[in-house]
Amino acid sequence: MATAGSAVGLGSLWKFPYVTGENGGGLFVLAYLVFTFLIGVPIFMGELVIGRLALACPVGAFSELSFRSWRFLGWLAALATLFVFSFYSVVAGWALNYSLMSLLDYSAGKTSEEIRGVFDLLFTAAEINLLWTLLFIGLTAGVVYKGIRKGIEFWSKILMPLLFLSLIFLFIYSTTLEGFIHALKFIFAPRADQLTIEGLLEALGLACFTLSVGMGVIITYGSYMKKNENIPKTALIIALVNLFVSLIAALVIFPIIFTFNFPSAEGPGLLFKTLPVVFAKLPGTLIISTAFFLLVVFAALTSTISIMEVMVTTTTEVYGWSRGKATIIIAGLSFLLAIPSALSGSQTLFANWVILFGKNFFGTIDSFTFVWLLPINVLCTALFVGWWMQSNQRKKSFLEGCDWNYLYRPWIFLMRFVIPLAVIIIILQGGGIIDMGRFFR
Ligand code: PHE
Repeated sequence: MATAGSAVGLGSLWKFPYVTGENGGGLFVLAYLVFTFLIGVPIFMGELVIGRLALACPVGAFSELSFRSWRFLGWLAALATLFVFSFYSVVAGWALNYSLMSLLDYSAGKTSEEIRGVFDLLFTAAEINLLWTLLFIGLTAGVVYKGIRKGIEFWSKILMPLLFLSLIFLFIYSTTLEGFIHALKFIFAPRADQLTIEGLLEALGLACFTLSVGMGVIITYGSYMKKNENIPKTALIIALVNLFVSLIAALVIFPIIFTFNFPSAEGPGLLFKTLPVVFAKLPGTLIISTAFFLLVVFAALTSTISIMEVMVTTTTEVYGWSRGKATIIIAGLSFLLAIPSALSGSQTLFANWVILFGKNFFGTIDSFTFVWLLPINVLCTALFVGWWMQSNQRKKSFLEGCDWNYLYRPWIFLMRFVIPLAVIIIILQGGGIIDMGRFFR
């Protein structure tokens, strides 16, 4: 349950729909599906195998299983969690902001265009973004510090199904919108001219991100896993739940876009610009809208708890910090890094960032993580599990609690050859070092 809570979050609800929009739909979704099963799921199993064997934080786990030589990979994972936590908190902050606005019935009397425009106001409001980001980081830190994971897991069992139910309800509503068929075509019909190589890298990063791999989170959770639990089954179930949420979120959002003639490449504000338009048309707007955004905040919280937990266990294990000290320092550091992201819209900090780097600070951290850090972490993890780990240890950990023995060999094959090769080609192509397009011309 905790691992599912970590996996289902803003990656599926917020990120998947908007990058699908930016990358022209169909083919991107197909790439995401292929990467999920061919790369994300095997790596997920690999991280569980590592965690269950080493019973330690990612730095300790890689160090212990490799006589220290792969220790750097644990630190790379920790770096990725820090980056992710910083911009994830800004987005969760937007959801907090929308919860309060909804409670105050902000959409009453506004046209669809005006409701859509509210996000731009929020995005450029410096202090408001800072306030919500700080609040959300504080909320996560509070839960991690108090060690009330048990309480959160209890609430997960009630609130996550409620989130699924509300998504299904919204999905049913969106099938009645006139843009629904157009949305289906957009999401499921692959058009060859739409996907760029950067988009392909992004699909890879997203497939890993929504499964929470490449950041040590699953290694940490693997270390809590019992011997009689089935690793491949866990990975598959979580991948399916994740895919379900991602697709439903897109199937709710795109019909709104095509019905109201909004642009599909709307960027990070997509979720917040579309759903409120529909909420405003439903009876009980205030309750539905407030509840929905609070559920989104909760889904984000179950993810950030796992992200912060990695950094806290790493620093307590490696440096011997107390839990309190680790929580405070990490929360502080994360907020520091989140400040320029939260101020990206208002451009009150690093005003020339966009001119110099082509993207605002938020976009730069986000795309650095998705396009480079996650694929590189995944590549190293595959090489480590496939070639470096002791094979008897690896096999024992994989097959404990699992009678699907026939899966072991294909899994090793993927980890050894398919994943490294695919990721290397995509990275080299993305970096402009090779040009695979030549072979198809
Ligand atoms: N998988 C989470 C999501 O989709 C994000 C996440 C990434 C959580 C990495 C934990 C670790 O939102």
